[in-house]
Amino acid sequence: MRKVGLPDQQLVMFENLPEVRIKPEPFLKWAGGKGQLLTQFAALFPKNFNCYFEPFLGSGAVFFHLRPHKAILNDVNPSLIAAYRHIQTQPDELIIILYSLRQNYHSQSSQEQERTYYRLRARYNGLPSGSLEKSALLIFLNKTGYNGLYRESKKGGFNVPFGRYDNPSIFDENNLRAVSQELQNVTLLNTGFKEAVTTAQEGDFIYFDPPYVPLSKTASFTSYTSQDFSLADQLTLAGTLNEVTARGVLFMLSNAATDTARDLYKNFNQHEVMASRAINSNPNSRGKIAELVVTNY
Ligand SMILES: C[S@@+](CC[C@H](N)C(=O)[O-])C[C@H]1O[C@@H](n2cnc3c(N)ncnc32)[C@H](O)[C@@H]1O
Repeated sequence: MRKVGLPDQQLVMFENLPEVRIKPEPFLKWAGGKGQLLTQFAALFPKNFNCYFEPFLGSGAVFFHLRPHKAILNDVNPSLIAAYRHIQTQPDELIIILYSLRQNYHSQSSQEQERTYYRLRARYNGLPSGSLEKSALLIFLNKTGYNGLYRESKKGGFNVPFGRYDNPSIFDENNLRAVSQELQNVTLLNTGFKEAVTTAQEGDFIYFDPPYVPLSKTASFTSYTSQDFSLADQLTLAGTLNEVTARGVLFMLSNAATDTARDLYKNFNQHEVMASRAINSNPNSRGKIAELVVTNY
């Protein structure tokens, strides 16, 4: 039996409809998302591993690409992890709210849509972390806000401006159901990257995708949440790489190919792939840029 959410907020059960099985894809756009690099990453992933760890999850492009049989996924952003948990445990309820948000939004003029965006952004900021409505709004704001950014002010409010997209898709019901299935054997954590990998053992694989070491002093796009990722965090991460390596854990890490990053990871194997970076404070320097990939195997 397949459940289909409808705009009138009723769940209708269609007997005899075949299950729609599709490959799950990231359900968010994410600044620094690795979707475009997967083809180049493919040759660099280990051939075999036991449990998969992704401590800087974001939209999870690598997790959805690898589809490991067992995984521990983490992000420091509580609202992001709450959204994954709601998809894991309450996909029907979440989908009903999303249908209603989308139907309302798509019936509006572009001026009304902009007003709706800011009204719902304020509502999002007033909701407690972990509420189902907040998770639906996170998905809505991600698709209607500017460029898939998740940025919060120092006081903790999500403050990304309106995105001005024509007919953004907002969500795909079949994909959310496929994501929910995929998350059934997954442990979701909401802690720092170091704590998130303490249980990794010999033969496990960790993919680290930390906020970038800044390309220049002005190009620091690391404020994913109200706590920035500092150079001290980058150094702690370099220490974590040594610790997991000593335990026989395989890791791959990606970061901007800067001299600082090359130096931070000088004890490990380094590869370069080409990425087009969409987020940069200087629009003239958008374009192809080298991404460093570091492995201990
Ligand atoms: C470059 S993004 C990851 C993008 C992801 N690979 C993708 O494909 O969408 C970095 C992520 O790290 C998270 N983050 C920042 N500081 C963190 C920390 N100290 N511990 C764990 N996660 C952190 C951010 O919330 C953000 O989602």
